[in-house]
Amino acid sequence: MLQDQKMNNREVLISQETIQSRVYELAQKISSDYADEEPILIGILNGVVFFFVDLVKALTIPVTIDFIRASSYGSGTVSKGAITYSKDVEINVKNKPVIIVEDIVDTGLTLNQIIKRIEKKGPKSIRICALIDKGERRSEEVILDYSGFQVEKGFLVGYGLDHDERYRYLQDIFVLK
Ligand code: IMP
Repeated sequence: MLQDQKMNNREVLISQETIQSRVYELAQKISSDYADEEPILIGILNGVVFFFVDLVKALTIPVTIDFIRASSYGSGTVSKGAITYSKDVEINVKNKPVIIVEDIVDTGLTLNQIIKRIEKKGPKSIRICALIDKGERRSEEVILDYSGFQVEKGFLVGYGLDHDERYRYLQDIFVLK
């Protein structure tokens, strides 16, 4: 608890107001791009939940939703590359437009493996929406169709982002020192 209180005294990297207005802009763009379609939004658990709910609530088009849960980090801060799935997509995505929603893209390994997995299910199209595009350790090219914020480096926590399952509930985004 003490550690969390210290975090609250830290300088905010991205404030909740800035997050909310950017999420609204992303939702507007997605709503206009998919005006004639009904996309399936697939959120990558767990970190995405705060962003996902805010994004979906701000959309002005009908959508369906599902989640996939992939783990590559364990309790460390560096991607191990190997991915395990503890929840797969259950909704039928065949011939449907899919938008994969991720909280943060770091090396790109997680997202690229999930894209491959969903591609095999035969969707009509796949686009990617990520709240944060963190450039420093990118080792695989990922095309982010909708990107909230670009951050060069640092391990971020808050608004769903955790370190060892902590800090997810913080409303602003902070750098973990
Ligand atoms: P990647 O495979 O290296 O792109 O890692 C993506 C996943 O690692 C994200 O979905 C997060 O769960 C986690 N991750 C990467 N960077 C951060 C960070 O700065 N804070 C919290 N989680 C992170």
